[in-house]
Amino acid sequence: MISIDPNDLSERENYKFLIGSIIPRPIAFVTTVASDGTLNAAPFSFFNIVSSNPPLISISVQRKNGKRKDTARNIVETKEFVVHVVDEAIVHQVNETAAMLPANESEIALTNLTVIPSTKVATPGIKEAKVRLECVLERVIELGGDHHNGCDLLIGKVVHYHIAEGLYNQGRIEHEGLGAVSRLAGSNYAKIGEVFSIERPE
Ligand SMILES: Cc1cc2nc3c(=O)[nH]c(=O)nc-3n(C[C@H](O)[C@H](O)[C@H](O)COP(=O)(O)O)c2cc1C
Repeated sequence: MISIDPNDLSERENYKFLIGSIIPRPIAFVTTVASDGTLNAAPFSFFNIVSSNPPLISISVQRKNGKRKDTARNIVETKEFVVHVVDEAIVHQVNETAAMLPANESEIALTNLTVIPSTKVATPGIKEAKVRLECVLERVIELGGDHHNGCDLLIGKVVHYHIAEGLYNQGRIEHEGLGAVSRLAGSNYAKIGEVFSIERPE
């Protein structure tokens, strides 16, 4: 085994170690609204379920030189956001939205994606996504912050679910139809591969 102290690695090397080993990571495509009304959209793979009861999810947005990215700033200001599960049909367009645009320019304009009003929050979502979670900010946890690094761990409470017709049967989501994709390291993504079952012990 190779043993490494994270303190001996550069910021970039730590990033590459973590994103290369914690795989596959689900991808949240997150829409938020800026104070001037601009609709912002960006993907985040530091994303997971925090709790199912109540339904809580998390995304972690890295700071740039200690400064919040638009997504984190908008969520802290408006206290809401919409998370979309990234699937094979939209992943290329979602990737386009990771471009660094000025805060008053919408990443959605770079794509053919369609904006759709939400049910319980003012922030619109993206119609093409097969699963859409309307969220209100439960808590923001600032971590590891100084002038050069840190992140905002944003915990959202899901206040409304949307799912594409045909994917939701008897309370189960059909993963074949969803076609979720995950992020690996670098520019690599993965589809769901071979699926196998293991019964849980009593
Ligand atoms: C697939 C994918 C996953 C990403 N995951 C994250 C993430 O978990 N955290 C993060 O800070 N940035 C992540 N990024 C980078 C952001 O999407 C990128 O910085 C984006 O420009 C931020 O947008 P904003 O400034 O509008 O918030 C990811 C990019 C891609 C393409």
